[in-house]
Amino acid sequence: MKILVTGGAGYIGSHTVVELLNQNYEVVIYDNLSNSKIEVLNRIEKITGKRPVFIQDDILNINGLRNVFKNNKFDAVIHFAGLKAVGESVQKPLEYYNNNIVGTINLLFAMREANCYNIVFSSSATVYGEPKSMPIDESFDTLQCTNPYGTTKLYIENIMKDLYKSDNNFNIALLRYFNPIGAHESGLIGEDPNGIPNNLVPYVTQVAIGKREYVRVFGNDYNTIDGTGVRDYIHVVDLAKGHLLAINKVLSKSGLVIYNLGTGKGSSVLEVINAFSKAVNKDIPYKIMPRRAGDIATSYAKCDKAFKELGFKAQYDLTRMAIDSWRWQKNNPNGYEK
Ligand code: NAD
Ligand code: UFG
Repeated sequence: MKILVTGGAGYIGSHTVVELLNQNYEVVIYDNLSNSKIEVLNRIEKITGKRPVFIQDDILNINGLRNVFKNNKFDAVIHFAGLKAVGESVQKPLEYYNNNIVGTINLLFAMREANCYNIVFSSSATVYGEPKSMPIDESFDTLQCTNPYGTTKLYIENIMKDLYKSDNNFNIALLRYFNPIGAHESGLIGEDPNGIPNNLVPYVTQVAIGKREYVRVFGNDYNTIDGTGVRDYIHVVDLAKGHLLAINKVLSKSGLVIYNLGTGKGSSVLEVINAFSKAVNKDIPYKIMPRRAGDIATSYAKCDKAFKELGFKAQYDLTRMAIDSWRWQKNNPNGYEK
């Protein structure tokens, strides 16, 4: 079985490639390295004993995509490639719409030309906007997002829905991730953000390692257990395994399917900081700051559909996520840079 993985050098992509190689899939990674490092290939090889084929190219280059399909016969595509920084997307909407949407349209054209009709797409819980109740199930409205990044996910979902309506040959899994954190247990691969991390967990681990002074907790006056924001954190290895189940699903001629990938359990910012303090074995300092624009109080998934139809159930809890994130950060204080 041969899989094309766009964005396979990135955080979630690299963990998924490891799971694919461990299950003896052939993998071709297509990535322009705009938010990842070539060193990840050595690490993947160290973990799995196999080196995936790597093509450094851009999904905006349709001829590059066409060539990959000309030279390989793929059973399916997992499409991770995309820009993902919420704040940056507000500053650079055209770049985000172009990269994520035009890039995806190129990929879908190249797939159709090559008669490859099976795709798993990285969507996000952000498509639910500000839901009226919790937990969030897949039937909730997806009408409006609070930022251009989220809007790209929503538009791509809609493009894929229209494509499927027009051509039932396609089998498409839209996976709506909640908050992926953690790292492979080897400590060899993990999240390697550029500059100041936007997301909570990389920020917390950088405080733990002494790169930053304290965690800024964005608001403690939400209507939640302790006033801080609640999210559904999912271990990246659980998430990666969900992609293998989704591949099986599309290969069974599923048509278009949509799944939440989360744990079903919400944790507050202070609970996360606490779990990391335990993993690191020292107190992690924090300061309460004003709310961050665009944030919602609570977000966690209803995961019944993925369990019933894919057999997906997350295995790892927050304690384990903290231990694995910390191992990665401690062993690689500067990420993939030596
Ligand atoms: P990441 O930035 O680590 O990985 C994305 C990869 O895509 C990078 O290696 C980057 O170099 C590559 N890429 C970007 N634009 C490209 C282009 N034009 N051509 C070729 N390659 C390109 O991000 P991640 O956290 O691994 O996320 C993977 C996917 O999952 C993204 O689509 C993201 O939007 C989505 N997602 C992520 C999260 C999260 O919290 N990490 C949550 C929901 C959804
Ligand atoms: N937070 C802090 N301090 C920080 C960073 C975050 O207190 O330095 C808080 C936020 O206010 C929020 C929680 O920690 O309550 C989680 O924030 P993240 O930025 O880690 O994650 P988000 O839920 O805001 O966003 C993530 C991804 C988005 C995706 C969204 C929904 O970053 O790409 O989940 O899937 F769209």
